[in-house]
Amino acid sequence: MTVSDAMNRQLNEQIANELGSYYTYLAMSCELFDMGYKVLSKFFSRQAEEERGHAMKFLHYLQEVGSPVRLAALPAPKASFGSPLAIAQGALDQEQIVTRQIHELVALAEKDRDYPTQSFLTWFVDEQVEEVRSMRDLVQLIQRAGDQHLLFAEHRVAQMMAEAAEEDDD
Ligand code: FEO
Repeated sequence: MTVSDAMNRQLNEQIANELGSYYTYLAMSCELFDMGYKVLSKFFSRQAEEERGHAMKFLHYLQEVGSPVRLAALPAPKASFGSPLAIAQGALDQEQIVTRQIHELVALAEKDRDYPTQSFLTWFVDEQVEEVRSMRDLVQLIQRAGDQHLLFAEHRVAQMMAEAAEEDDD
């Protein structure tokens, strides 16, 4: 059992897309570090690691079904967003783009009657709901805090990370 040529192309593209998210979040983490927002920086470096994990899930799936992995070149991430709010908004946009990419993969799997890939993609469909919500929460938090209270907002981000780590342990 393997996947169609079109699905192989799209799954390989998704490896690059996820690594593109990894690279973008890494750049965001570095920019936040330079701005002095160390907790937000850590939030984005963890988010980057999650994206690398997503890329590896796609890579291992292709290997599992005996379909070739073809790694593409990655474009450089945007160098500067300019503010924590612009970074959070950029991350929300990124998650919405990835959600559409995942849904396109599901649509192709349905067209191909490729049930194993449909089953594999279920985790990503659910994960995107969670990731869009998390970035939307972050945008809202930063908007509410405003520039003057951004350092206090970092305490809430630290709490969110601790809660997420506890959920992962459950
Ligand atoms: Fe892998 Fe955040 O999408």
